[in-house]
Amino acid sequence: MERVLWSLGQDLKLNIVKSKNCTLFDSEGREYIDLEAGIWSSSIGHGKSEVLEIIKEQADKVIHTGYCYADPIINDASETILDILDFKDGKCGFLCAGSESVVLGVRILQTLLNDKFLLTFSNGYFGSYGDARDKNENSWIHFDWIKNCSDCSKECGSCDSFKSIPFDKIGGFVFEPGSSDFIKFPPNQLVVSIVNKIKFQDGFVLSNEVTTGLGRTGKWFGFNHYNIKPDIVTFGKSLGNGYPVSAVAINEKIAGVLAEEEFYYCQSHGNDALGASVAKKVIEIIERDNLVEESNKKGSYLLSKIEEIAKSSKIIKEVRGRGLMISIEFNNSKNDIAHEVSHELFKNGFIVSNFKGMRHIRIDPAYTIEKTHIDGFLDAFKSIMNIFQNN
Ligand SMILES: Cc1ncc(COP(=O)(O)O)c(C=O)c1O
Repeated sequence: MERVLWSLGQDLKLNIVKSKNCTLFDSEGREYIDLEAGIWSSSIGHGKSEVLEIIKEQADKVIHTGYCYADPIINDASETILDILDFKDGKCGFLCAGSESVVLGVRILQTLLNDKFLLTFSNGYFGSYGDARDKNENSWIHFDWIKNCSDCSKECGSCDSFKSIPFDKIGGFVFEPGSSDFIKFPPNQLVVSIVNKIKFQDGFVLSNEVTTGLGRTGKWFGFNHYNIKPDIVTFGKSLGNGYPVSAVAINEKIAGVLAEEEFYYCQSHGNDALGASVAKKVIEIIERDNLVEESNKKGSYLLSKIEEIAKSSKIIKEVRGRGLMISIEFNNSKNDIAHEVSHELFKNGFIVSNFKGMRHIRIDPAYTIEKTHIDGFLDAFKSIMNIFQNN
């Protein structure tokens, strides 16, 4: 492992040699229950046989060609995505990583809006590089809803901070419906007020569903928790169930405008047949096996049980979640408590998301997780909380 370039925060470095649904097996024969689903990606379970089969089947035909060629599977997969979004006569394109899909979605917005600003929430995460990561203040307006709205009881739109948003300069809203950093969900009224303003002045809304999309929050999309309809939707993570494929879908209106513009975007792995075939299969499985509802049901159960544990804990500050996207935030009186808890859970055979310095642990298992694994986690977590509390 000495030759591997690890990034900051990667301190477990297990030798994982096999995976099945929510279980990871290391080279020493130990088993771990993966409540992180490969950074929230393997949402229908590791090693899903039908996904492996489609990879083999498509790879035998064609993996990748280049951006001047087409394969019918790319169109079929686009139709599947447009159908679940109800984007009749829209268009969809495939890339590899979530960051790429957001970059392309934002590039499309900027092409349509010329010099207009994009509005976004301060705490959003849009990827590891590019304009959407930097959210440079020359072209983006940031609104801090956590500071401005958390304790607000006024009618939305009437307070000074909302009124100070310069809507006349703004052409689009880039929305992340559940900040992936620490899982906080912006209030419905705020989101609806912003979207109404933007749409009223013929602007566009992009919903970044890289993490929240395809059932993670117990609904098909994170934006389904709000009374809004976006014009552009970006996908990643769950779309490939661990295989690197992402997508950008645009509605009919944007597709119409783009067709008139000279829009140029090109990269080696745009619209690969293999990625598209995986995406189509994953969505079919989620639909067929009612996995969005599974995420909702299992998420409610897990959240309520964690809340029960939190009630009698002095070290847990807050528990938040929608579907199987759950965060447990700890009090900061003791440094790095969340990190220590994640290590204890690991010793007990459970993997959760956390890195040094992060005040919470995240739990985002596959929607196919077995109840015995959920209950096993709850038992281990409860005992760990008792030990920490008494120290
Ligand atoms: C909301 C959101 N957008 C974009 C990304 C970037 O995706 P990727 O890491 O696949 O590039 C992430 C990754 O965590 C994310 O949570």
